Amino acid sequence: MAGTDTADATAVPFDPFELKDVVSGTIRDPFPRIHELRRESPVHVGPIDLGEGSDISNPNRPLPVTVFGFDEVVQVLRDNETFSSSVYAGVMGAVMGRTMLQMDEPEHRIARAMVSSTFRSKVLERWEGDLVAVVVNELIDSFIERGRADLVREVTFNFPAQVIARILGLPRDDYPAFQRWAIELTSVAANWERGLAASAALRDYFAGVMEERRSAPGDDLISELVQAEVDGTKLTDEEIYSFLRLLLPAGVETTYRATGNLLFALLNNKEQFDALYDDRSLYAQAFEESLRWEGPVTVILRRATRDTELAGVPIAAGADVALLLGAANRDHRKFDDPDHFDMFRAVRQHVGFGFGVHVCLGMHLARMESRVAINTLFDRLGRFTLDPDAPAPHIEGMAFRSPLSLPVVFDAR
Ligand code: HEM
Repeated sequence: MAGTDTADATAVPFDPFELKDVVSGTIRDPFPRIHELRRESPVHVGPIDLGEGSDISNPNRPLPVTVFGFDEVVQVLRDNETFSSSVYAGVMGAVMGRTMLQMDEPEHRIARAMVSSTFRSKVLERWEGDLVAVVVNELIDSFIERGRADLVREVTFNFPAQVIARILGLPRDDYPAFQRWAIELTSVAANWERGLAASAALRDYFAGVMEERRSAPGDDLISELVQAEVDGTKLTDEEIYSFLRLLLPAGVETTYRATGNLLFALLNNKEQFDALYDDRSLYAQAFEESLRWEGPVTVILRRATRDTELAGVPIAAGADVALLLGAANRDHRKFDDPDHFDMFRAVRQHVGFGFGVHVCLGMHLARMESRVAINTLFDRLGRFTLDPDAPAPHIEGMAFRSPLSLPVVFDAR
């Protein structure tokens, strides 16, 4: 259990935080400007500049549309015939391959059905104790004696990649390479060549693993994928590579940032930290509130398939539509005092996991991973607090948001 192979489990062959371009942008608080723009109109046509990476204009396409309102975001996601997911083919198709994220119905339904049984909450229970808790305990073992740690570098950044690696049944010696490819693939927007090279390396790597699992299936996701069948159809090798590559940005980057955001909120709200510490049954509402308040994924995309309108604003066929999930989750018309983190608030519905047919496939896994991480930190570190001798952390970034460090102190037990 805890304490075995610690050096291997935590080894990352380079310090990703040294590579500024893989981490995130530097915008600290886009919300005052977002509130201003939403008050003008929940739907804007034309370029919007909220800082780095936020302008999706393309001179070859109709003017882009940006949606800031909660109800309007839900309306778009509900109408997946007018608003297509095919927009992702151009953005990520070249690196990820063809994934369910870019498919429309009915193709999407079949692709999702092939893999969805693995992500049902019941199935995840088996991963909880003997997989996620083990990973988190090992990470904690490596710093507990010190009485202080940076929870981003030493826990949240490392555990989701290791959890995915274990779910895929990868050998331990391969973790450092896998984590590096995961980081390089996820940061493809910052370095295209490096992202493509990682994508090719992952394909070759997975090809070898799949061959092994075909001849000797195990209790892991890759073994399930090579055998999966819906309506008599099996997944092709290319479809499996694409899905496995999608799991990295979809399942690693998001969970690490979401767990960091919840920890940040708790560390800066002592009463809510204590409430959760004393009553772990509050976890579900604490996590959902942190996704509303600072979700790691702030924007998703769609493309209009025909001329239409939203909140009275005309949208041209072919226009790219940016749905600002972060803005929708702080819509004054839906939430009282939306900039405030409050896990006891009455309205808890949010769009941090998206909505409709493409709603996050990994949401039960993300909730479970984050719960196990936070409970294990509570159990092992006690009531940890921000390190008074370290600079106060902050959340930053635009498309992805989270703190880059969370220095804490605790009485080691
Ligand atoms: C807190 C963590 C997470 C957040 C905030 C998040 C957010 C999202 C969002 C917003 C979407 C919708 C994208 C769209 O409609 O354009 C999505 C889809 C998806 N997510 Fe997550 N995600 C998280 C964790 C995970 C995990 C752990 C996995 C799997 C290991 C995962 C796998 C997926 C997949 C496969 C899709 C595509 C579903 C489809 O197209 O039908 N996600 N996620």
